[in-house]
Amino acid sequence: MAERIIIFDTTLRDGEQSPGCSMNVEEKLRMARQLDALGVDVIEAGFPISSDEDFEAVKRIAQEIRRPIIAALARAVREDIERAWEALCYAERPRIHTFIATSDIHLQYKLRKTREQVLEDACRAVRLAKSLCDDVEFSAEDATRTDLDYLCQIVEAVIAEGATTINIPDTVGYTIPSEFVTILHTLRERVPNIDRVTLSVHCHNDLGLAVANSLAAIQAGARQVECTINGIGERAGNAALEEIVMALKVRHDLLPYETGIHTEQIYKTSQLLSNITGVFVQPNKAIVGRNAFAHESGIHQDGVLKHKLTYEIMTPESVGIKQSTLVLGKHSGRHALQKKFEDMGYRLSRAELDKAYKLFMKLAERKKEVYEEDLLAILQDGLRDIPETYTLRLVQSLAGNPKAATATVVLERGGQTFIQSATGDGPVAAAYAAIDQITGMRGQLVDYSIRSIGRGAEALGEVFVHVDFDGKVFTGRAASTDIVDASARAYLHAVNKALHARERLAALQAEERATSSDGASSST
Ligand code: KIV
Ligand code: ZN
Repeated sequence: MAERIIIFDTTLRDGEQSPGCSMNVEEKLRMARQLDALGVDVIEAGFPISSDEDFEAVKRIAQEIRRPIIAALARAVREDIERAWEALCYAERPRIHTFIATSDIHLQYKLRKTREQVLEDACRAVRLAKSLCDDVEFSAEDATRTDLDYLCQIVEAVIAEGATTINIPDTVGYTIPSEFVTILHTLRERVPNIDRVTLSVHCHNDLGLAVANSLAAIQAGARQVECTINGIGERAGNAALEEIVMALKVRHDLLPYETGIHTEQIYKTSQLLSNITGVFVQPNKAIVGRNAFAHESGIHQDGVLKHKLTYEIMTPESVGIKQSTLVLGKHSGRHALQKKFEDMGYRLSRAELDKAYKLFMKLAERKKEVYEEDLLAILQDGLRDIPETYTLRLVQSLAGNPKAATATVVLERGGQTFIQSATGDGPVAAAYAAIDQITGMRGQLVDYSIRSIGRGAEALGEVFVHVDFDGKVFTGRAASTDIVDASARAYLHAVNKALHARERLAALQAEERATSSDGASSST
């Protein structure tokens, strides 16, 4: 039987750290559920010491997602490790992932420590982690720029302390496949206790080599690869999960390894991530890009029509891409909608279906033909995972040239209606100014993008915004056949998220105050 490669997904940790990719707790939970359905072996859920929100996300994922291992990141210091464990202890299969930099560059300029000190810190951290949790991963940050003798020494020492996985990160995306192979061979030859652990790699994509390096590492003995959906991550990103998995599947002749990934879930997972973050992959992105299976040139089309194998090394269906078919129209009933969602892999509760059906009818009145991609947009719009504090009842705008544009907005909050008109540099900016005046939230628009979903003049416009409220950026999304309506609702989505985050933070802080005063009174 083929050897198994452990797929360690770090979309919610390393991926989420990248610009524009931040997610709130509910969004992380949605992603975690989908990663579970995708079949990943390990979900790195976050870095609990980094913020209260990250802590909560790890805790909620640890409480809910039972099959995969749930990992949390911690620097090699006591507070980080204890905080990680506080969030992780609810997991069925918890893992503490602790790391420290080992290259001389990092030791000298970042840590200002000697090699001996870092060795001691690493051992102490693994010892502490092991006293809390059986499953401990150690990462030697910037391993590929680390002196190899020292890397062998530190790896041997942390294994002796009880580490169960040793991760060799190419933190700055510097290595090339042949060099990485040498590093892994050296570790396997020189570290006497290396057979007691799983060897892992974690590659960044600064030179566009993250996937190639990961595959070379597997051939050199790595049995865990760390990767992210769509390759998101720090700077140029991490190795893309979908590319590694499909390379292993398509080139099984040369890479005879197995993974637990249900490849037909790949596209859905990729789309979910893009829809949550508003960060879309480029059209020519391998496996999940819009053009990944499109044959444009006449010669290619002719070949594919004669036999798919001429130009197709895998089928779109194998990664979950289906031919979009016309599905429903305004005479379709609730039952037909429910059935269609089920065929698409979504099981809706009664309340969710009611909401989706209302949105569907509204859309079907404007648009004769409703496609699967339209239904996905409805799903994203209708099933908001945060409370809708403000709801948009009306937006009316007038573009202005040479004068300023104006917009009138009507919002509802708890049964109360608010109306406001404002001017702005364009109808969208005017609508945003009116929303700001009603809600009292002053958002700074960091990013605005619009794309069309589906085809033809009646296509839906989907708007994504990234809005900064007091230094924290929130993503908003909405789709409509009217782009000013979509823009206003996307902005309001971000406003509602910011309000929800504020309320949650206040509730968490109150809870912590209550717990600490309980502790204080019970200890006196
Ligand atoms: O890139 C890196 O070195 C990391 C470690 C924390 C594993 O993300
Ligand atoms: Zn990383």
